[in-house]
Amino acid sequence: MSENGVNKGRRRLLTATTAVVGAAGAGLAALPFIQSWQPSAKAKVVGAPVEFNLQPLEPGQIIRGLWRGKTIGILRRTTEMLDTLPGLDSKLRDPDSAAEEQQPVYAQNQNRSIKPEYLVLVMNCTHLGCVPELVPEVGAQPFDAEWQGGFYCPCHKSKFDLAGRVYDGVPAQLNLQVPPYQFLDDRTIVVGIDPQSPA
Ligand code: FES
Repeated sequence: MSENGVNKGRRRLLTATTAVVGAAGAGLAALPFIQSWQPSAKAKVVGAPVEFNLQPLEPGQIIRGLWRGKTIGILRRTTEMLDTLPGLDSKLRDPDSAAEEQQPVYAQNQNRSIKPEYLVLVMNCTHLGCVPELVPEVGAQPFDAEWQGGFYCPCHKSKFDLAGRVYDGVPAQLNLQVPPYQFLDDRTIVVGIDPQSPA
């Protein structure tokens, strides 16, 4: 694919996903979702669990933050998004999430999550660590004529579905990692600690 193709895809993404909250790197500071996660100074230093407030997250939106120096993304999936997952198995390298180190056991299921609606991922690409873009639209993209929505890494063109499962035939070899996390309540996720872990 040409470089022009990638750029065109990026432009389309920006146009079509105005509802999607999220950006990597310096852009974080400018966005309102920054208020949804507030690690303490201590948490930043020792890599302690980090809370994410899900309240502002509308269906189809993603919020991003940091945990242990990694980019965390929480995507609130719609029913339509979840419906794309079963049909993709034949295109994926590890559709059953068999690589155990890529998710906790409680996320080793088709949705790769505790609650189907919320996908929690380490957003760093399993190839060389870039942060893939959320491309939620279903339909032809410059990088995939039969795109069903998912994450696209512009660094070396790896593709992941809306559960973070890696496509076959791309540079990345592993699904995006699901970190340990738990729901504190219906509106709050804590990343960095398994469910039922003692305080
Ligand atoms: S870092 Fe994502 S494809 Fe290389």
